[in-house]
Amino acid sequence: MSTPLPGHLRLAFTTAANKPAIEELFDPRVKQSIDPDAQVAGRSGDIFEQHVANGHGAFLQDEQGTIYTLTMAWHLKEDDDAHKRPRHTEIGTALTRLQGFHSASIVIAALTLKEWWSSRSPRGVIAGEVSNSNIPSTKLFRDTLAWKPIKAAGMLSDINKLSYAGVINYDHRDDAKTWYQADRQGRQKLARIILDFMDRGTLRDKQGTTITLDLAALEDTGLTRLRLEALASGISTKKALRAIAPGVTPR
Ligand SMILES: CC(C)(COP(=O)(O)OP(=O)(O)OC[C@H]1O[C@@H](n2cnc3c(N)ncnc32)[C@H](O)[C@@H]1OP(=O)(O)O)[C@@H](O)C(=O)NCCC(=O)NCCS
Repeated sequence: MSTPLPGHLRLAFTTAANKPAIEELFDPRVKQSIDPDAQVAGRSGDIFEQHVANGHGAFLQDEQGTIYTLTMAWHLKEDDDAHKRPRHTEIGTALTRLQGFHSASIVIAALTLKEWWSSRSPRGVIAGEVSNSNIPSTKLFRDTLAWKPIKAAGMLSDINKLSYAGVINYDHRDDAKTWYQADRQGRQKLARIILDFMDRGTLRDKQGTTITLDLAALEDTGLTRLRLEALASGISTKKALRAIAPGVTPR
């Protein structure tokens, strides 16, 4: 099922009202065409609804409301963990109807920085798990985003256990998959990616087709252009970034 290319897309963070448009991506006919190898699990139920309603997802949407690219930030913690912040945050459910525009990198960059910037940032890591055989996703996390593979056995065990809770008892290492982490340097790179898209104002494929892009939603979280520039230049703490006046960004 091919979707006509949009002329304009805008970044948004999820609210409860977006649930039907998100579910449309999981309609079997749409899902099969954009994710034929079923790399992304179907999503439904209370946890999905809470994450959508609480803004733990980001997407690119056209003027008709169709979602083209989606990513979710799953908050992982034990059921009896009463801390308001998650133990880890898993960046996953990355899906796009757009081939060749690198649109997933902009959505993941925006969502990851928003999750880090929020009061619900994880106590542990922000990371995404990729099957090593999934070439587009490996290119995305390892090359475009430049996230680092997690090697520490203890961390792998902890994040696998929480990520797969209720699915399988995952206490072993799976060499067919890699967890990639957005660390301090990773966030610097994410800020750079967003700034580059802001400067260009468009998504562009290798044929030169362009789609204009509105990233104002990220600035509305307080991650303004001035703060993104500071982050990209190596200022890495939230305290130091908050001290930078939000400023006015020309739109
Ligand atoms: C993974 C995904 C979200 C990446 O989105 P994206 O980065 O916006 O996708 P693009 O189409 O721009 O492709 C990114 C790169 O992968 C390459 N690529 C895309 N499809 C490919 C394929 N079938 N085989 C090999 N390479 C492929 C592109 O050429 C591009 O390479 P480049 O960086 O060298 O230019 C998207 O491919 C997708 O929705 N896949 C299905 C679901 C999925 O696997 N999700 C990830 C689960 S971890």
